[in-house]
Amino acid sequence: MPAAYPCEPGFMLARGFLDRRSKRSIRSDRVRKASMGYAAGMRSRVRALGHPVHPMLIVFPLGLFVTGTVFDLIALFSDDAAFDQVGYWNIAAGMIGAVLAAVTGLLDWTAIPSGTRAKRIGLLHGATNGVVLVLFLISWLVRMDNADHRAGTGSFVVEVLAVALSGGAAWFGGELVDRLGIGVDEDAHPDAASSLAR
Ligand code: HEM
Repeated sequence: MPAAYPCEPGFMLARGFLDRRSKRSIRSDRVRKASMGYAAGMRSRVRALGHPVHPMLIVFPLGLFVTGTVFDLIALFSDDAAFDQVGYWNIAAGMIGAVLAAVTGLLDWTAIPSGTRAKRIGLLHGATNGVVLVLFLISWLVRMDNADHRAGTGSFVVEVLAVALSGGAAWFGGELVDRLGIGVDEDAHPDAASSLAR
């Protein structure tokens, strides 16, 4: 029988942190699922044309934050203030996208049953993304009044930290969808009818 989790110390530590259940109860997942009446997935609350809106919106903060940080890195080595300006406005747009994404994520999270692993992972995911947003806001406010919105090394370091954190938060998001079935239709299967036909 394949192991439920890899046994390396790092994984064991992470597992302990992310999953308070015992190995035995993890193995009996299938039984739990059947006895508690869980379906294979759980439809998102906020949808457009039958698909969850949250994953449609997250591309904006993720893409814009990374792009802004890359432009700020270039700006650190360049005399051309245009790079600072591009970085600054990318981050501004990213923050707007993050707020919109957070609203839909929060609405989806409220529909997850209490006491489940998905509820805990969702909370961790949302809170980490909240910290990411605050870090970008701080680094953005610090340079707001600078000539050409110049990003100093301090702002850049905060941005890099925030991007790294958002990678961790995205992993929690993937866990919610791919492992815990949040945002996946209850009747999903390889030959299911179109979402528009439901
Ligand atoms: C603004 C920053 C946010 C970003 C960048 C973000 C990113 C992500 C990512 C990458 C996924 C996985 C999508 C997939 O694999 O298809 C996800 C799913 C999810 N996130 Fe977020 N998230 C954000 C905010 C939030 C907040 C504040 C909550 C509330 C607790 C939340 C709740 C969820 C839920 C419930 C899912 C499961 C899928 C669904 O709802 O459709 N997210 N998120």
